Amino acid sequence: MKVLSGIQPTGRPHWGNYFGAIQQYIQLQSEEQSFYFIANLHALTTIRDGDQLRQNSLDTAIDLLALGLDPDQATLFIQSDVPEISELCWLLMAGTPMGLLERCVSYKDKIAKGLPVVTGLFTYPVLQAADILAYDSEVVPVGEDQKQHIEVCRDIAQAFNHAHGETFVLPKPKILDSSAKVPGTDGEKMSKSYGNFIEVFEPVKPMKKKIMRISTDSRPMEDAKEPEGDHLFQLYSLFASEEKKASMASMYRAGGFGYGDVKKAIFEEAEAFFAPARERRLELEANMDRVHQILGDGAAKARVKAAEVLARAKKACGV
Ligand code: TYM
Repeated sequence: MKVLSGIQPTGRPHWGNYFGAIQQYIQLQSEEQSFYFIANLHALTTIRDGDQLRQNSLDTAIDLLALGLDPDQATLFIQSDVPEISELCWLLMAGTPMGLLERCVSYKDKIAKGLPVVTGLFTYPVLQAADILAYDSEVVPVGEDQKQHIEVCRDIAQAFNHAHGETFVLPKPKILDSSAKVPGTDGEKMSKSYGNFIEVFEPVKPMKKKIMRISTDSRPMEDAKEPEGDHLFQLYSLFASEEKKASMASMYRAGGFGYGDVKKAIFEEAEAFFAPARERRLELEANMDRVHQILGDGAAKARVKAAEVLARAKKACGV
């Protein structure tokens, strides 16, 4: 199976990125082809400070390695190190109906939130389609919020195949039921752009502070509560064993507990869960030559495949 996914370096990975996507990258890394990249060209539509973008990209790559991405199995690279993607993006853009992009929720959301409207934000899904199609990807592990972009990618590929003959493989998203949409500290989807996130490598003290400030409802302590649908319970479930989850669920149903206890339990589980990755991160930081080498080797490997697909696409459309 050919697997591919990408993460934007608009900040550092948060719990939503980890449980929705990164965890899957690691589970799928021993597949026949597994390509993971840092989407710095996409992030350029929001980050205008070059030094920050460069640093975030490198940090995100180190984060992925620390979380268990194994460069002997998976190919890790920075998106812009494969320039074939930008050329393929244009070939796709030439045949992408405007209406397809106008319907994209993530673009409409950003507009609604008053973010500056740049052309790259609008054509973002076409670049994402180029990312996916350039490697003949079959499966794209993502969180729920990316589902529409994968569907758009399929539509773009189909439009191209229809006009120029069979050229691209149609990919499918892979979304985990358990963590398709991880809630943030306000109960809404955790997102870098909503300021409701907890970073995976957040220093322990601020992490605790953020957890203790997670919003809750104002029902009295003694009330019995249904755990399903409660965002604190959802967050706890990401980290806890089945056994601990079941005992937390019974505590909810019995009532007589405070949300502060649940928050403390989340903190303890989260800290223990990411502790080994924190250790590995320190080792990687002390060995930056190795990190650069991994990214260089990854880009070289990705370019070979992207060049092959780009040549196929150019031949098909006559340029
Ligand atoms: P990005 O950087 O926003 O997010 C990276 C991955 O994390 C998932 N995710 C979540 N999953 C569950 N719950 C959440 N609260 C949550 N927040 C984020 C996202 O679904 C994603 O899988 N457009 C992409 C980057 C990209 C890409 C690609 C992905 C560029 N090209 C090609 C796949 C294939 C994005 O902005 O992800």
